[in-house]
Amino acid sequence: MAAMSTAVKVQEVRDVTRIERIGAHSHIRGLGLDDSCDPKSVSEGMVGQQKARKAAGVVAEMIREGKIAGRAILLAGAPGTGKTAIAMGIARSLGSDTAFTSMSGSEIYSLEMSKTEALTQAIRRSIGVRIKEETEVVEGEVVEIQVERPASGVGSKSGKLTLKTTDMETIYDLGSKMIESLMKEKVRSGDIIVIDKATGKISKLGRSFTRARDYDATGAQTKFVQCPEGELQKRKEVVHTVSLHEIDVINSRAQGFLALFSGDTGEIKSEVRDQINCKVVEWREEGKAEVVPGVLFIDEVHMLDVESFSFLNRALENEMAPVVIMATNRGITKIRGTNFKAPHGIPIDLLDRSIIIPTQPYTEAELSDIIKIRCEEEDCDMQPDALTILTKIAQETSLRYSIQLITTASVVAKRRKSTQVSVEDIKKVYTLFLDEKRSQQFLKEYQDQFMFNEAEESTSMD
Ligand SMILES: Nc1ncnc2c1ncn2[C@@H]1O[C@H](COP(=O)(O)OP(=O)(O)OP(=O)(O)O)[C@@H](O)[C@H]1O
Ligand SMILES: [Mg+2]
Repeated sequence: MAAMSTAVKVQEVRDVTRIERIGAHSHIRGLGLDDSCDPKSVSEGMVGQQKARKAAGVVAEMIREGKIAGRAILLAGAPGTGKTAIAMGIARSLGSDTAFTSMSGSEIYSLEMSKTEALTQAIRRSIGVRIKEETEVVEGEVVEIQVERPASGVGSKSGKLTLKTTDMETIYDLGSKMIESLMKEKVRSGDIIVIDKATGKISKLGRSFTRARDYDATGAQTKFVQCPEGELQKRKEVVHTVSLHEIDVINSRAQGFLALFSGDTGEIKSEVRDQINCKVVEWREEGKAEVVPGVLFIDEVHMLDVESFSFLNRALENEMAPVVIMATNRGITKIRGTNFKAPHGIPIDLLDRSIIIPTQPYTEAELSDIIKIRCEEEDCDMQPDALTILTKIAQETSLRYSIQLITTASVVAKRRKSTQVSVEDIKKVYTLFLDEKRSQQFLKEYQDQFMFNEAEESTSMD
């Protein structure tokens, strides 16, 4: 076991398969709180919902300080009251170093793996491991780069790189790979560069101060740095953060991290996970790594079934657990997979462990502000009367429906070569696209023309 576990590989690869499903919330840039954690009425794309935002701000603060892990938070409220938006606001305010995974409750049924495996992967994606590593680097000022191309024009290039510190100067032989990366980084003499000896990665630190007088050749953004002192070769400490899931994937197959790109990670053996957990604990004890709990956001959480809830409950008790934020718009309803009813369709034992943040319906002014922000986000110039009508529509039908009308109405406006959306455009799309209530009405009127119609047996569709 010990021999095996020394082989645990870590690589800095961002998981690229995560799909962005949050276009509707692209205007949310944070929670819009001031320094004392109080919500401003309109800020960072956020409007109203002040109590819930303040509560979310407290949660975000605790996550940032690493104070809570293994806690559950439930955002509960009617549809369209900004639950998903607030979760996105928390994500934006955390910064890129904290893992944030977003999934919908129903996702666990659609993947080619068991429900518990899907949940385990989501949980492990939400736990970051900050790893400190010492690497050998060569750091110095470029004196000269010489590249020789073979006379025939074919074959690989070769060359020489002269680097110096204030105390020494050395000439290195260059292979074609190194030449390529030097060119890609646009390295030239007078640059201070670092070469990672293990990976061959070249990074530019800046221009040497001695070159500060070549005004013509330097742009405004050029950073000037001192020529390094001492030895060219040194040991440097680098820190990178990866998620537990990424470490799992890299170590679970021969092709390793390529699976992260294809998204084809499949099920991961529990032995691999056990081995990695042991290793991480070991690293932590040696002071080489830090575990940073992140956030797992489960939207539409009532879609989970009773087994998944109990699995989640247990996972929260694990030593390495993320903060779980859930959202639901359900009232008292059946827990999926049982005949028992519970608030929000969530088992009482999980609810008991959760802190609940309620969201409230919006006022007319708030609806109008949200619609205005969405218009700006979609580069849509809306006439004031049209905005008033959209706000009315949001009140009578739903906020989502009226946000949908912004996009469709601006297409209609463009068709008639107008840059502004008018009341007429809104009227037109309002008659073209039905909201949920009118759609039900329509179904009731024309039920006999549809297939599989059951409206007569069940009198109400709610
Ligand atoms: N306070 C707010 N400030 C700015 N935009 C908001 C706010 N609340 C909601 N929105 C926007 O309104 C739309 C609907 O809100 P959202 O999707 O967050 O509702 P929800 O509570 O998650 O609803 P559901 O229960 O149906 O999932 C989204 O486009 C969202 O970005
Ligand atoms: Mg939602």
